Amino acid sequence: MPETTPTGLTRLAFGGDYNPEQWPENVWHEDVRLMREAGVTMVSVGIFSWALLEPSPGEYDFDWLDRLLDLLHENGIRADLGTPTVVPPVWFYRAHPEALPVAADGTRYEFGSRGAICHSNADYRAAAATITTQLAERYADHPALAMWHVHNEYGVPVSACYCDSCAAHFRRWLAARYETVDAVNEAWGTAFWGQRYTDFDQINPPRVAPTVGNPGQTLDYKRFADATMRENFCAERDILHRLAPGIPVTTNFMTALSQCDSVDYWAWGREVDIVTNDHYLITDGRRTHVNLAMAADLTRSVAGGAPWLLLEHSTSGINWQPRNPAKTPGQMARNSLAHVARGSEGAMFFQWRQSRRGAEKFHSAMVPHAGTESRVWREVVELGASLDSLSTIRGTRTQADVAVLWDWHSWWAQNLAWRPSEDHDARERADSFYEALYDRHLTVDFAHPEADLSAYPLVVVPALYLMTEAAGSNVRAYVENGGTLVVSYFSGIVDEHDAVHEGAYPGALRDVLGLTVEEFSPLLPGQSVRVTGPDGSELTGDVWTEFVVPRDAETVWTYADGPAAGLPAVTRHHLVAGSAWYVSTRLDAQGLDALLGWASDDAGIAPRADLPRDVEVVRRVGESGTYLFAINHSSSDVKVPLDGHGTELLTGERAAGRVALPAGAVRVVRLDG
Ligand code: GLA
Ligand code: ZN
Repeated sequence: MPETTPTGLTRLAFGGDYNPEQWPENVWHEDVRLMREAGVTMVSVGIFSWALLEPSPGEYDFDWLDRLLDLLHENGIRADLGTPTVVPPVWFYRAHPEALPVAADGTRYEFGSRGAICHSNADYRAAAATITTQLAERYADHPALAMWHVHNEYGVPVSACYCDSCAAHFRRWLAARYETVDAVNEAWGTAFWGQRYTDFDQINPPRVAPTVGNPGQTLDYKRFADATMRENFCAERDILHRLAPGIPVTTNFMTALSQCDSVDYWAWGREVDIVTNDHYLITDGRRTHVNLAMAADLTRSVAGGAPWLLLEHSTSGINWQPRNPAKTPGQMARNSLAHVARGSEGAMFFQWRQSRRGAEKFHSAMVPHAGTESRVWREVVELGASLDSLSTIRGTRTQADVAVLWDWHSWWAQNLAWRPSEDHDARERADSFYEALYDRHLTVDFAHPEADLSAYPLVVVPALYLMTEAAGSNVRAYVENGGTLVVSYFSGIVDEHDAVHEGAYPGALRDVLGLTVEEFSPLLPGQSVRVTGPDGSELTGDVWTEFVVPRDAETVWTYADGPAAGLPAVTRHHLVAGSAWYVSTRLDAQGLDALLGWASDDAGIAPRADLPRDVEVVRRVGESGTYLFAINHSSSDVKVPLDGHGTELLTGERAAGRVALPAGAVRVVRLDG
């Protein structure tokens, strides 16, 4: 993917979703005055404006948007212009009721919310192309236009539709992929439970059935739904490229969504001109800044390491979780700059002015209900100044230390029904391994299992149930060439069709790990096992154990009790120039830290003992220099070591040897030379 930034931006992007249609026009003038006061450089407009732009079929009203874009331009603010195709107007649905999506149980969703779209519907596709063409023709040359924002968050709130037109589209998709219906039978294993098809026309979406449906069918339906949304994105993108050449096209991702349930961002990352992401703090009792770092690292990885843009986050509380705490003083800046440290070319928000009406009126904004006499507003203005002082980092790249393998197709497969244990939560393992790496102060790149891994001294596979043979060979070659691999249980089990690899588990990883697994033996709730190491130290595991048979691997840690007592819990396999570690139970944080410590020694990664917990240090490097971001999420003042000396950009102070980092603060040192 080419490295692109919004056209005409000379500073970092700072601003938010701007929905002026919710306000009388005199407020717009107040808005741009405040935007200038805060140093706003770009706003996202028109994302939900279809009903205003086309009040009745074929009758357009662009006057208000003309005035708005002119006003922004006169004030030096760039526009990220939406195609409003996530919200067709009610007249469209009344004329084409079958464009409303259908759930797996047959319920057809009603108009009156947003994102109610059947992506296979021909009338929707035609209408989306028409409004996109209208916008592109009108605004291609508008001097405020910086970027196109296609649709909004593909995949939510509806990730797949199960209607008849999707069924027909699914059959066409299957025919293109498999050519014959027998190839589908083979891939899905329809010999099981007598599910054999003799004609593509007999195949339906995996609608609600008496019990568990065919896993291959369910998995392919995820792929189909993802591909269908991407077809629609690409159709809009191609219109925009043709009519407005040179203006980058994006759509806002949600890379770290906890269910990993909607779209394959590896594939989407190749289609957009610039990767953009939305991130909100998830209030689930865990440290929110760790999930934020993970989302940012994953987004950068989807962008192939190129700079990306945080298109939405919040100034303070959100309103769609059960409980939505306000951000603490300084937290918004820490969050924003943590995204920038990990490659974002700015920090944008949902939304500019807090709504008085509608579903999101209790969601924070840059201009809150409390007005400008508020902490949120003061911090917004401060953040604008901070970002302004970081302008030269644009185009630099974040440096990573290690890679974690990640694959949306594997997520979809491991969330299928009827597994050895419902307590095995693959996402929990990924989060926990990420957290353990974060606590060792290592910066993570995520990598597709078939990607080139040779740049990384250490590659971690927290949970990768689905691995193709090609992925297995890839990690094997990585180890043979000197890499260090860490693999957690229930990885490498099935192929791309959710069929178990031939031979003993874990088929795709047997050779590289030098072992086989005879049986899984998950633990019951509340049960745990002790595992002991050669030095007598003891760790605990829960949720999972298995009967590991070492072939060429050595046993490093052994189960002291539980169903696998006496068998290996952690093994290590020397293979040509590298080594591969395997862990067969769910270690707690302390256990993961120990495991990653041993693996880091193999990989030659020195411990960063000089950095306290919850102090994040990340580097961006490029032509304009090396920038060290130090972010203190803890409540103690600390000093962070520097390799050399430089200028701290937020305070303008010189720093040599170490930089003082007060509790809650961020420092960005541009190193000399
Ligand atoms: C998403 C959407 C926005 C808004 C925010 C609220 O990211 O894209 O329109 O609903 O959530 O958090
Ligand atoms: Zn449909």
